[in-house]
Amino acid sequence: MIQCETTLKKERTYDMSYERIELPRERIEAQEAIARRVAARFQAEGKQPLALVDTYGCQQNESDSERIRGYLAEMGCGFTDDEFAADIIVINTCAVREHAEQRILGNVGALNHTKKAKPGQLIALCGCMVQQPHMAERIKKSYPIVRLVFGPHELWRFPELMEQALTGKKRVFAVDASDGTVTEGEPRSRDGQVKAWLSIMYGCNNFCTYCVVPYVRGRERSRRPEEIVSEARRLVEAGYKDITLLGQNVNSYGKDLDREMDFADLLRQISEIPGRFVLRFMTSHPKDATEKLFRTMAECEKCAHHIHLPVQSGSDRILKAMNRGYTAKSYLEKVALARSYMPDLCLTTDIIVGFPGETEADFDDTLRLVETVGYDSMFTFIYSPRVGTPAAKLPDGVTRAEKQVRFDRLLDAANRISGEKHAAFVGRTLEVLVDGENRDESYPLTSRTGTGRLVHLRGDRETIGSFVHAKITGSTTWALFGETVQEEA
Ligand code: 5AD
Ligand code: SF4
Repeated sequence: MIQCETTLKKERTYDMSYERIELPRERIEAQEAIARRVAARFQAEGKQPLALVDTYGCQQNESDSERIRGYLAEMGCGFTDDEFAADIIVINTCAVREHAEQRILGNVGALNHTKKAKPGQLIALCGCMVQQPHMAERIKKSYPIVRLVFGPHELWRFPELMEQALTGKKRVFAVDASDGTVTEGEPRSRDGQVKAWLSIMYGCNNFCTYCVVPYVRGRERSRRPEEIVSEARRLVEAGYKDITLLGQNVNSYGKDLDREMDFADLLRQISEIPGRFVLRFMTSHPKDATEKLFRTMAECEKCAHHIHLPVQSGSDRILKAMNRGYTAKSYLEKVALARSYMPDLCLTTDIIVGFPGETEADFDDTLRLVETVGYDSMFTFIYSPRVGTPAAKLPDGVTRAEKQVRFDRLLDAANRISGEKHAAFVGRTLEVLVDGENRDESYPLTSRTGTGRLVHLRGDRETIGSFVHAKITGSTTWALFGETVQEEA
């Protein structure tokens, strides 16, 4: 049993042997009935409200926003991108770093103008940031224009909360601490027609010492495989070609289920669904990435040969202080094992610079690991202290300026390495999935290679949603450029 301190309302500890709570479908049906009641009310008042959903943060938040839009559509709302035209604004927030929180609060403050121009406008905040008690309190005190606030655990009852906010006299705050639930059957309004998110589990049990996620998203809970597989089948039948399985740590999928089933088994089951599609997933915790997973990825034709494997640091001392559960050596061994199964593997990572107490020598270890692995792309962050996490209490002698210098050095290395990797593709012909449009007239299409690399493409808009061959003609640090060709050269 791992125990962790939190700053949630009641000071409490987490017990990993918690019970998973699956909400019966009737509870969701009851919410849908409320959504219809809200729609009938709007109709009786002769209103056709427009809603705007603004999303910050990770793919899980993108996926949650699709659930919010699904419910809003059931409430009879149309959608807009214009905050002055919107009758309902929902901001789905992120808490992973302070920078995101500051941006969100700045944007909420700016809504004073829209609210003045449109006094009936309903402003709601949801997601990870507001699940933190100190943030909920701050919004209560300093942002009176916000009428509804709810955390990730309450999203399943959004219609009920909306009805309260629309008809009641008081502001609505639904941010109680919870281990979280598993819900099925909610409506969802998907963002695209080619790529789809598919959540397979929620929450995180790892308690990396810098991370706020386990406190705001609760304990790991897996959806039942039959629910996931049937959702994937519906997506394929509806024409989706690129499915990304989502979880904070997909490699611990199934540990809480009442049967022997792991993530590799789930990947295999989904990839057996008939039809042409690409199967991706994120995020993988290195400590739980297994040989069985790599073998399954190599064997299942539909699995993209891409792993996002956040290393966070190359220093064993820092990895220990982060509670990551692996060393630089064991990480490198996993990378070598993965590459032995998939020589064309695309490998991406997250790295935190300036964790409390990080020395020049620790940082050099990180740079060395980055050079050794040769990542295809890296997401780099300066450490941001998060209220209630153990790392926030650690002494930190490194100045912000020193952290910035390290960050810039790391970014230079990251850019050089991805630039070299991309340049090696110029002249080759690759199969890509055309997944959208670009603003750039010379390359009007966006597409992805089987391993997930972005290719800006010259070609016909009618190919969106299909697999084509692309001759790679150019590259930058971030992407490849190419043109559609008839067949493989
Ligand atoms: N400070 C900086 N970066 C963080 N991340 C998570 N928590 C923090 C923090 N407190 C980064 C990690 C993680 C990614 C999603 O965000 O690298 O993998
Ligand atoms: Fe945060 Fe670590 Fe969980 Fe990822 S695995 S969400 S970094 S606690």
